Amino acid sequence: MNERLCIEPADATLGATVTGVRLAELSEREWRSIEAAFHERAVLIFPGQHLSDDDQAAFGRRFGELSIEGQPFTNQNPDGSVRPPDDPTVQLLRGNEGWHTDSSFQPISAKASILSARKLPSRGGETGWADMRAAYEALEPAMRERIANLRAYHSLFHSQAKVGQGSESMVNGLAQMQADGRAGTGMSPGDTPRYEAEVEQAPPLRPLVKAHPVTGRPALYIGRHAYGIPGMSEEASERLLQELVDFACRPPRVLEHRWSVGDVAIWDNRRVLHRARPWDSSEPREMFHVRVAGDPATETGL
Ligand SMILES: [Fe+2]
Repeated sequence: MNERLCIEPADATLGATVTGVRLAELSEREWRSIEAAFHERAVLIFPGQHLSDDDQAAFGRRFGELSIEGQPFTNQNPDGSVRPPDDPTVQLLRGNEGWHTDSSFQPISAKASILSARKLPSRGGETGWADMRAAYEALEPAMRERIANLRAYHSLFHSQAKVGQGSESMVNGLAQMQADGRAGTGMSPGDTPRYEAEVEQAPPLRPLVKAHPVTGRPALYIGRHAYGIPGMSEEASERLLQELVDFACRPPRVLEHRWSVGDVAIWDNRRVLHRARPWDSSEPREMFHVRVAGDPATETGL
């Protein structure tokens, strides 16, 4: 039977479901269609792919150099036991339940992120995305003018502190995640860590409005890591950033995916925010993650 590539836009300003294709065996023509759909819809969902770690990394490399070649996001220990809610890794995963864009707290923010579902809880644990291009376009002109030249700092220390995780626990959680990756991929402890902790003293400063490097279209660049707009009080900055997130992350600009094991999703961090939805923490959930590095010419913070 000959399958045909089918790209079905979601009922929102972003997102599409892609079927009739094997990501592990893409033809050049299929790849070109997928890349075009990625720029057009920003989030692509590929049901039932069941990619190996290597195939997922290879798919990521089509989009560019990887900053994370393969990282399990899991609340399970290597022995299969479920980590308790106060475990540092679990606290980091819980932080991801707030709207954010990946690596915005690092010197070069991410271009794209790819998740695949490996182990799922019986309910909850969906992933949501919100369209920051459509949000920017829907803002009142006065708000667009107000934020045109504003910038915010981005810090994981800041965002995790807001959800109750101190810096020591956070650093331990990042180290544990690196160990999870090594356990899963056979890397030795001496290998270069792929989930690099930020430098607390020098959080990058990024504009609130970002022009997309391919389409040129402006989008809000905000989320839970953003704070401390220079020239504003801490409270006023927090209020404005929260107001923007509340406005941006609502229909028709949001999409949520209920995962089945084997599904793959990719999204454009330069245009969307995303979040994990809560699930019963006594149940295991494992997602496998590959991250595509941003272009230093357009994704470098100040
Ligand atoms: Fe994320």
